[in-house]
Amino acid sequence: MKIVRTSFYAAISTQQGILLYKVFYLFLRFILYYIYMIILTPSTWTDYDLLDSGDYKKLERFGPYTVVRPDPQVMWKKNLSESLWKNADAIFERISEDKGIWRFHKKTPQRWTIKYDNLTLLVKLSPFKHTGVFPEQEPHWRFIQNILAKNHNQLNSGVSTARKPSILNLFGYTGISTLITVKSGAKVTHVDASYPAIGWAKENQKLSGLENEPIRWIEDDVIKFCQREVRRGNKYDGIIMDPPAFGHGPKGEVWKFNTSLPTLLSICSQLISDKPLFIIINAYAVSISALSLKNLLQEYFKGLNGYIDFGELALQERSTKRLLSTGIFVKWSK
Ligand SMILES: C[S@@+](CC[C@H](N)C(=O)[O-])C[C@H]1O[C@@H](n2cnc3c(N)ncnc32)[C@H](O)[C@@H]1O
Repeated sequence: MKIVRTSFYAAISTQQGILLYKVFYLFLRFILYYIYMIILTPSTWTDYDLLDSGDYKKLERFGPYTVVRPDPQVMWKKNLSESLWKNADAIFERISEDKGIWRFHKKTPQRWTIKYDNLTLLVKLSPFKHTGVFPEQEPHWRFIQNILAKNHNQLNSGVSTARKPSILNLFGYTGISTLITVKSGAKVTHVDASYPAIGWAKENQKLSGLENEPIRWIEDDVIKFCQREVRRGNKYDGIIMDPPAFGHGPKGEVWKFNTSLPTLLSICSQLISDKPLFIIINAYAVSISALSLKNLLQEYFKGLNGYIDFGELALQERSTKRLLSTGIFVKWSK
């Protein structure tokens, strides 16, 4: 008698394999949903690198230029040589609690561009240490791309009868999520209180060749705008928000994360369509945890069945592979 040995993998058909993978994936999502926070880090991105961190600073590369920025979380020691740090193209030095100046060590331009997935993004060094790009949000961009691609496939195969999804991007800043979203086949209403930030986002739109994509640019206070949208009966299939700890609307309307967020979520719960695709809430330097963010989302969007991921965004340092925590998030998807 001939004994045929088949490996486990060879013995199962592709169909069974896919089914097994799906069961395992759902099991994992179930476990994550109830127990774990997750840490998300960007996948390899040629035009950005966290090179090193230490002594309350981080050394980063945006395209061809290296910059040093303060970071209160970096309490450990630097790993790379002091000369590498000193020779960075631009170094941010604080002059007050929330402002600083950039010292340029070489002929560093005031503005330059970097690439992300066919988008061209303008990097500018602001007096608040920002660059116009939050690279750690790359996992959110991939999440949006994946969900919209899946939705697009369902549209094409007739499974879904939905029209082009309509997405609301609140505190949209320089518009990267907005551009990713329209590039993935949705239309976007982008809201920000700052005229310069909207101007920057429009520059990114032009640089990326997306001028003809359906984006509504709204310069307004998020709460006032969303209240108006509820009165108009408008609905959105997805909501992205990146609220700051403190901010203000164009007419001085005060935004305070801990007291304003529940109000905003309550309004947004009336704006979500009956076929929602996703919700993303991201935050930096706030006094609440990712767990509280998740509790809030569950409280205000009670009727939504699906998956919730929550946890921290982090950047992986090239020199040591250490993870540097940058912010918190919660995401819901169908
Ligand atoms: C820098 S971004 C988001 C990044 C991140 N969450 C942070 O805290 O640094 C914050 C954006 O929110 C906008 N903003 C602040 N308060 C706002 C308000 N009440 N209504 C609309 N936009 C607001 C700012 O203009 C800015 O572009």
